[in-house]
Amino acid sequence: MSHDHDHSAPALTFAIVTCSDTRTMREDAAGAALERLIAEAGWTCASHVVVKDERADIGAAIVEAADRPEVDIVLTCGGSGLSLRDVTPEATRDVCERDVPGIAEAMRYHSLQITPFAMLSRAVCMQRGRTLVINLPGSTKAATENWEGIVAALPHAAKMMAGGGHE
Ligand code: MTE
Repeated sequence: MSHDHDHSAPALTFAIVTCSDTRTMREDAAGAALERLIAEAGWTCASHVVVKDERADIGAAIVEAADRPEVDIVLTCGGSGLSLRDVTPEATRDVCERDVPGIAEAMRYHSLQITPFAMLSRAVCMQRGRTLVINLPGSTKAATENWEGIVAALPHAAKMMAGGGHE
């Protein structure tokens, strides 16, 4: 797939919520990589924050990002593994209504062809109203690979959430 700007592609607006006890904005290499991937696709990143691995803080950050009218897709980054501090999927479930399991399935299907560690992802993808919330892993390599496994379907997802339906 081309990463060149495609003027026929719908304009998507993202927000990034990195979940990490240790990272600051300056050290958030995975979040920065996601910002670059969004820009390379010709899309917009409206906001990017780093929050601690605290369920309530992550939930609040997802709500704040998702409820901005211009944001179509919230990408969380990190906190979806098996460490007891990893609570991003729980925080996502706290604030979203509907599961979109196929996106998480596609991430793991794609990633399992790269590493067996992909099965250790507890990532969920859900809708909060007309906004999609997608849990991505926290390393730059893993976040990039998971993005590559789902990016092709994101414009159609945003179109359906906006009420476009199918032709
Ligand atoms: N997916 C890909 N494509 N590449 C990876 O290296 N790492 C896995 C998994 N998914 C990985 C991956 C690992 S080791 C974990 S623990 C989970 O993502 C969750 O990552 P997180 O805890 O950083 O959110």
